[in-house]
Amino acid sequence: MTSKSPAPSPSTRVLVWDLPTRLLHWTLAGSFASAFVVASVADEHSPSFVVHMLLGAIAAIAVVLRVAWGFVGSRYARFRSFAFGPGSVVSYLRGVFRGEGERHRGHNPANAWAAFAMFALLLGVAATGALIARGGHVVKDVHAVLVYAMVAVVAAHLAGLALQAIRRRENVAIDMVDGKQVGDPAHAIASAHPVAAVAAIGLLVASAAVLVRGYDPATRRLTLPGVGPSLELGNAEEGDRDRRGGRGRDRHHDD
Ligand code: HEM
Repeated sequence: MTSKSPAPSPSTRVLVWDLPTRLLHWTLAGSFASAFVVASVADEHSPSFVVHMLLGAIAAIAVVLRVAWGFVGSRYARFRSFAFGPGSVVSYLRGVFRGEGERHRGHNPANAWAAFAMFALLLGVAATGALIARGGHVVKDVHAVLVYAMVAVVAAHLAGLALQAIRRRENVAIDMVDGKQVGDPAHAIASAHPVAAVAAIGLLVASAAVLVRGYDPATRRLTLPGVGPSLELGNAEEGDRDRRGGRGRDRHHDD
């Protein structure tokens, strides 16, 4: 578990977040935020809506990789280092509001819970998005609720970081950029794990390439190698209407 420590010199910043954790943080933050913006501006039946789905898929792949890294990654990236019980979250938040603000290496209890919530919500958002693409309209509302829950957790995450920055007069915004936190050098991680980061980039790029190559803009279908039926992207409602009207999914092939 991440431990508390006496206040170190505010100028000493030590390596805490390895490269895969930082890379996956910015991949999932960037892809979720961009997917949200695209969904807000593009009509769901427009060809450009497929960009929303691609970004959502990339966010989901980043979370899957981050979950795997949570079992094998470096000290502060491992889930067991930030598996705090609800009691620690309550006492941490009490301390924050009293102005005490215990210092934690790695995630503090509140950020740890926000991190787990964001991983779970992103997986739920991606799963319901895939079901919608396959014509499952009933999950549309669930998808929207999960998206807005995610937006609320992201807002809490950013507010928490701002509070930390103000209270401690630390620029926490750069922690996830250079991977460092104010702390005792004895507790720094030994390596940023660049090889694992390169492997993660390779997997993300390869997955995005498979998705792009499997997408046929003429039929708006995505066919994934080795995966059963294809997804009818950006066209679920139309496809469903067609099926109900007896024209079937292959209308675009017949046209
Ligand atoms: C859509 C936007 C964002 C999402 C979805 C997001 C998501 C996350 C997640 C899931 C974690 C846990 C990291 C892990 O264990 O792998 C995290 C941690 C963190 N994020 Fe973000 N983030 C977002 C935006 C930002 C921004 C804009 C900043 C900086 C200005 C930031 C800075 C951090 C920092 C410093 C941590 C570590 C917090 C700690 O001390 O526990 N994040 N974020």
